[in-house]
Amino acid sequence: MNTLFERCFDPGGRIADKTELLASELACSPPPYYDGLRMVLLEGVKPVTRVRTPAGVVREMLMLGSNSFLNLNFHPGVREAARRAAERFGSGAGSPPLYAGQTELHEALEEKLARFCGTESALLFPSGYSGNLGVLSGLCRPGDTIFCDASNHASLFDGARLSAASLVPYPHLNARRLSRLLESCRTEGRMIVSDGVFSMEGSLAPVAELAQLKRRFDAFLMIDDAHGFWAVGERGRGTADLCGVRDEVDLHYGTFSKALGSVGGFACGRKCVIDYLRYYARSTFFSSALPASTVAEILESIRIAEEEPSHLENLKRNRDFFQKALTERGFDTLNSRSPILPVPVGDEEKLARFQMDLFDAGIFTNIGTTPAVRAKQCRLRLNVMATHTLEQLGDAAETITRLGRKYGIVP
Ligand SMILES: Cc1ncc(COP(=O)(O)O)c(C=O)c1O
Repeated sequence: MNTLFERCFDPGGRIADKTELLASELACSPPPYYDGLRMVLLEGVKPVTRVRTPAGVVREMLMLGSNSFLNLNFHPGVREAARRAAERFGSGAGSPPLYAGQTELHEALEEKLARFCGTESALLFPSGYSGNLGVLSGLCRPGDTIFCDASNHASLFDGARLSAASLVPYPHLNARRLSRLLESCRTEGRMIVSDGVFSMEGSLAPVAELAQLKRRFDAFLMIDDAHGFWAVGERGRGTADLCGVRDEVDLHYGTFSKALGSVGGFACGRKCVIDYLRYYARSTFFSSALPASTVAEILESIRIAEEEPSHLENLKRNRDFFQKALTERGFDTLNSRSPILPVPVGDEEKLARFQMDLFDAGIFTNIGTTPAVRAKQCRLRLNVMATHTLEQLGDAAETITRLGRKYGIVP
């Protein structure tokens, strides 16, 4: 059975009718997880954050639903950097980078990112999502083939579709299957693209195996480590570095929206690849640059992440502690190796009730349901931050277990 959101998106019919259908369906029979999607934050993300529920109730909740893993949003240095840049450069960029949107702060950030990834050059995008559209449609053309891990982020699938290249998904993490698919591929333009850390699994891509396949089949390898940079690996250098093959990746892609808690995307690679993207990635060419104040805050967050290792150490300590607390209590966390801890529930209705009970108990979580994951693979997603205390996480594990028992998720 198609979900409500799929049914209201079916092809055909009048456009206005589809919008009215969704509005009336949501009013009469909203999906069970609907309230969970409409929480309003009344302040920036903190371990305990003030939230307004759809019923208008204001309450404080333990935040396990944010990607701001290092949680530097309120760091005094970050706020001060943004304030100073806003005073000097004003509010917005006003133009795409190639026209009049690039300041010396943008240049400094691109240089910093290239050094971080060990590449010659880097390029910024206004958002992680739009950057992937630009990169894939900028590099690939009809007649090329893009091999995509089935659990890759939607922006990679959308970018691949926009490029009009053939899109060949392979089963999650399955390098052997990918090898067979590459063997039977007759096109010259081949790209392998994978998330580094997978956002609904917390798993890590087998980047060393992907690099081997890239060499064997003369393909171009792109790793989108949106969730891995500044959160995973030695000094937060991400999944490819952790796998020991950083220099074999042709294009490192990342976002500032996860561990650093800001906004924007970036690509790092050889100068010729990045220069090519400057002209062909339409989401940078035709889109205004990031505001200088945002760039300044990102530069400062990266400096802090590099010079104050305690943030990453706390994040790792917290995620190890919380994963252990959950697995000891009988939860399957799908072998996550990142600050994203999924808890498979399966049935969507049960997942929604579980999540609402957690909201009532003061714990803010995310759910993974269609289209982010397959219908029978629905899951709760718990994101750990560096700023949580062990006590907060221990108490949360107890509450999640108590409610998990109620729904038969743990014995
Ligand atoms: C792998 C990956 N790439 C890109 C994005 C999009 O990033 P943004 O939210 O910064 O647009 C995400 C978001 O979750 C992601 O997980």
